[in-house]
Amino acid sequence: KKIGLLFGGKSAEHEVSLQSAKNVMEAIDPSKYDVVLIGIDKSGKWHLNDASHFLLNSEDPKLIALNKTNKGIAVVPGETENQLVNTEGMEALGQLDVIFPILHGTLGEDGSVQGMLRMANIPFVGSNVLGSAISMDKDIAKRLLRDAGLKVANSYTYTRTRASKSSISFDEIKQQLNLPLFIKPANQGSSVGVSKVHTQEEFEKGIESAFNYDHKILIEEAIQGREIECSVLGNENPIASIPGEIVATADFYSYEAKYIDENGAALEIPAKLSEDVTKQIQEVAIKAFKALNCEGMARVDVFLTKNNEIIINEINTIPGFTKISMYPKLWELSGIPYSQLIDELINLALE
Ligand code: DAL
Ligand code: MG
Repeated sequence: KKIGLLFGGKSAEHEVSLQSAKNVMEAIDPSKYDVVLIGIDKSGKWHLNDASHFLLNSEDPKLIALNKTNKGIAVVPGETENQLVNTEGMEALGQLDVIFPILHGTLGEDGSVQGMLRMANIPFVGSNVLGSAISMDKDIAKRLLRDAGLKVANSYTYTRTRASKSSISFDEIKQQLNLPLFIKPANQGSSVGVSKVHTQEEFEKGIESAFNYDHKILIEEAIQGREIECSVLGNENPIASIPGEIVATADFYSYEAKYIDENGAALEIPAKLSEDVTKQIQEVAIKAFKALNCEGMARVDVFLTKNNEIIINEINTIPGFTKISMYPKLWELSGIPYSQLIDELINLALE
């Protein structure tokens, strides 16, 4: 089978995607699949084969290192650029049996590329347009999760209009949600643009920073609890992995703690949980996966409070496949080795 690995992209998670793609490429069994690399650079231009090797194997530390100064491309209304697929790219796509998009964030994980592949009639790994779009948008996702009877953190949503911006009152929000608070762009991944705020000054900076990445932001209560992640795999009858835990040593599990500071966080795999709580988390993960119309794969991130309440933080429809990423690690622990996982994901795409 000819499989296209689509990676890079214009989002702020470009570098994360390169790392994910490298690992997926290494895990694919070359005797079973003919891999075609399709790299999208930061300007949105598509590169095929050799050109993609340059992205993945580049000596340029700026390209391969996870660079904290990288801000990627923020997509704000009126500033969105056309991401034109050149003729060469379209021709190559038509010859593939399946595409594995390993693109995180805007344009890659939000239904955009999924819509394009659907139009082009090419099967692809992961959620379709709807599941991708609603899972990427933390505001919409929360409404649907709540509607399905699942718990999420309380929050307020604001859009970038003059009226709503001036109406964001620190004092009022502080009273409703308590301190500290999280401020997040609605559509982002890897904690890019996310701030944990304790003071009015941090609050104002946090709002500015989040609006750099999206026209919609969330101001959210900080849940006190353990951070547990669970991998889900399947289409109509998804299964959940053994959960893992993120033990952040930094103030929170930020971009830096994730990818740059080696001591920023530790993974506890499996998470030390009772059998009963493990089962509950797996049930919540599957329920959330279904509620958001996910397909193929997703990683469900939850908080576990002292009273064993399970509160969903978010769902990632193209979870990280980097060296520190939980999705494949949790499956390995649950009895599905990396290359078998890739097989299963491809088979699910072709179902
Ligand atoms: N958004 C990153 C890649 C993750 O969820 O792992
Ligand atoms: Mg995410």
